[in-house]
Amino acid sequence: MSLNVSQAATRDSGDPLLELRDVKTHFRTPRGIVRAVDGVSFTLDRGKALGIVGESGSGKTILSRSIMGLLPPKGAIRSGSIKFEGREIGNLGRKKMRDVWGKEMAMIFQDPMTSLNPLMKIGKQIAEPLKIHLGMDNTSALATAERLLQDVRIPEAHRRLSQYPHELSGGMRQRVMIAIALACGPTALFADEPTTALDVTVQAQILDLLEEQRKDRNMSLILVTHDLGVVAGHTDEIAVMYGGQLVEMAPTRVLFANMKMPYTEALLQSIPKIEDPSHTRLMAIGGRPPDLVNPPRGCRFAPRCPYVREKCENEMPPLEPAESPGHVYRCWYPVGSPEYLEFKERNEQAAAAGADVPVAIGGAA
Ligand SMILES: Nc1ncnc2c1ncn2[C@@H]1O[C@H](COP(=O)(O)OP(=O)(O)OP(=O)(O)O)[C@@H](O)[C@H]1O
Ligand code: SF4
Ligand SMILES: [Mg+2]
Repeated sequence: MSLNVSQAATRDSGDPLLELRDVKTHFRTPRGIVRAVDGVSFTLDRGKALGIVGESGSGKTILSRSIMGLLPPKGAIRSGSIKFEGREIGNLGRKKMRDVWGKEMAMIFQDPMTSLNPLMKIGKQIAEPLKIHLGMDNTSALATAERLLQDVRIPEAHRRLSQYPHELSGGMRQRVMIAIALACGPTALFADEPTTALDVTVQAQILDLLEEQRKDRNMSLILVTHDLGVVAGHTDEIAVMYGGQLVEMAPTRVLFANMKMPYTEALLQSIPKIEDPSHTRLMAIGGRPPDLVNPPRGCRFAPRCPYVREKCENEMPPLEPAESPGHVYRCWYPVGSPEYLEFKERNEQAAAAGADVPVAIGGAA
């Protein structure tokens, strides 16, 4: 059965926290219109964690900024609907969205140094939104700030209130950002690459902290990353973006066990395995992401896909439901299909014979 885009990735879950239907966000540029988000639909339930993954330029940040109403100047939502707790927010505009930020939705970014004010003490930076949004006086806002620092596991919380950002480590600064984001008790927290600037041990601690806080507060978490490995253990569902489109979405366990889209498969192959020798280089996906001013007319992954056939180049595959509930994908010849298996065998034989495989996935970075 073929469903249209907006039907396929949304489901009737009763009362979703977030519901996107066919959202299109464009940028006007001298080169033409950049279709940064091109018809994305999905729903997210309250308290759940969604990972949005995809390569650089796939539209992850612009999608989350579209939901938050925080688009850069030349960007605008051209069509579609974004509902938050049943209320249409896609057309609210920045001024009205100010009431939503902090209290209902909050966002943390990759580099806390660019978001924290270097000249303002930590305590004041956390207290500010409490005073503005919750009307607290200075004393109770600072007391709440101290409790929030304890919540995000910052030692010596009281002393930190009077420190400046540069006096803290990168991991501590990211914890402060999380404290600020949590201050007004948001229903949804957007975290855009929150750990890429941190070393691996601190990354794991921050992801654990986000998960703990999400569960404690029954908050939804939207975790944006280019790394499927980061979301594997910390999300309920994963949405895979490619070329501005949602190309696969499924409950996390289903996606890892039964991915359908060759692009998702390629992303997974690019994760280094624990058993790999330390000198093993990261696998990269061969070829370049599509130009979003002139995207391919058929499947956007066709120029890079080892399983591409004529139909893929001419017709855009619709988002189709898979067998498992909540699993949708966009591919004519999905992983495991007879056509996929035929090409896989042929490519493997060609590679074993030393021939050039038509399009390669998994070249060394
Ligand atoms: N201010 C802008 N003006 C024009 N195009 C933009 C602008 N910001 C983003 N884009 C384009 O929108 C597309 C999606 O960008 P986006 O930042 O969402 O990618 P991303 O998936 O978050 O990538 P990354 O992993 O590098 O952060 C890209 O093609 C990008 O070039
Ligand atoms: S539709 Fe075709 S080109 Fe696109 S991912 Fe599927 S097999 Fe590859
Ligand atoms: Mg981004």
